[in-house]
Amino acid sequence: MNDINRSDIRSNAVITAIGSYVPERILTNADLEKLVDTNDEWIVQRTGIKERHIAAVHQFTSHLCFEAVHNMIERYNITVTDIDYIIVATSTPDAVFPSVASQVQSHLGIENCGAVDLQAACAGFTAAIQLANGLLVSGAYRKILVVGAETLSKITDYSDRTTCILFGDGAGAFLMESSDDDRGNVLSMYSKTDGSRGHQLYRSSLASAIGDHAIHTNGMIVQNGREVYRWAVSHVAEGVKQLMERSRLSAADINWFIPHSANMRIIEALCERTGFSLDQTLSSIKLFGNTSAASIPLAIDEAVKAGTIKHDQIMLLYGFGGGLTQSGIIIRWSL
Ligand code: COA
Repeated sequence: MNDINRSDIRSNAVITAIGSYVPERILTNADLEKLVDTNDEWIVQRTGIKERHIAAVHQFTSHLCFEAVHNMIERYNITVTDIDYIIVATSTPDAVFPSVASQVQSHLGIENCGAVDLQAACAGFTAAIQLANGLLVSGAYRKILVVGAETLSKITDYSDRTTCILFGDGAGAFLMESSDDDRGNVLSMYSKTDGSRGHQLYRSSLASAIGDHAIHTNGMIVQNGREVYRWAVSHVAEGVKQLMERSRLSAADINWFIPHSANMRIIEALCERTGFSLDQTLSSIKLFGNTSAASIPLAIDEAVKAGTIKHDQIMLLYGFGGGLTQSGIIIRWSL
């Protein structure tokens, strides 16, 4: 299944299906008012979030992945047993090992298939697409399932009002395949990381320091919201501009900007600094909150289901977050 045939080498990668899932339970701003000293007006004004979906007690990231993939199978009537590689981008795996990807392999009953989890926090989905693209273009694999999935509610401290208002659960999946068509879907990519700022946004249950910085080890998300905000609006905006420069494209040449749905204020600031209008920007922030690796595929799938994204349109997807790391791609939409 994984044999490299010379004729496969330098094929192109195309996106052939998309699916998504969010858990049933909704956590509204009114619900949060009962947990911490906050209110709907403050949350909406600072973050743009109205609701988030929260996994059930016994529902973990792998279960969300299964649902997103089944959603994809039903909508596109596709075969998944010949998938030869699975990448799950997540910061909330059911266990450190086995990987969530291996649970997806087992659930789908695929016999010959590589499976890895990728951890790049909120940049995870775009990083996974970059890697899948490389594996397909090299000819090493032919059909790759990429899923971004999180159960952030499991690692959110619901007594910390500065973080618990932000996060939600969900999953989104792309099927990517090699193609002999001379037009690939991934047009260009860009990544940048600044590990010296890692202590500004983390989750640890092991190490009690990141670099020289002492950190909490309670296994919950901890962030310096103001520092993360400052980094996002300056360094991430610069990264988006670098990606466009590299592609010789401007905001006017790009149909859709899909930044990670960290929060609406960050998205607005990114738009202001990069030349995108809010009308050409898609997000999943209002009804799903910050779902980390799932936020970009969720935003895209909502727009696909609404018929907003059209075949052949150009889209800039940009993930950023814990690391601190950023990972962006420009793609041509093929569905
Ligand atoms: N409800 C009501 N008041 C709140 C609150 C809440 N949920 N959380 C904090 N506050 C209060 C603070 O205590 C503070 O009060 P004070 O002025 O009396 O001290 C005030 O609101 C302002 O706090 P501050 O932390 O400066 O708020 P902020 O404007 O920076 O907004 C965030 C907080 C978290 C929304 C903002 O920093 C942010 O968006 N950061 C980026 C976080 C992020 O996106 N992380 C994920 C990246 S992938």
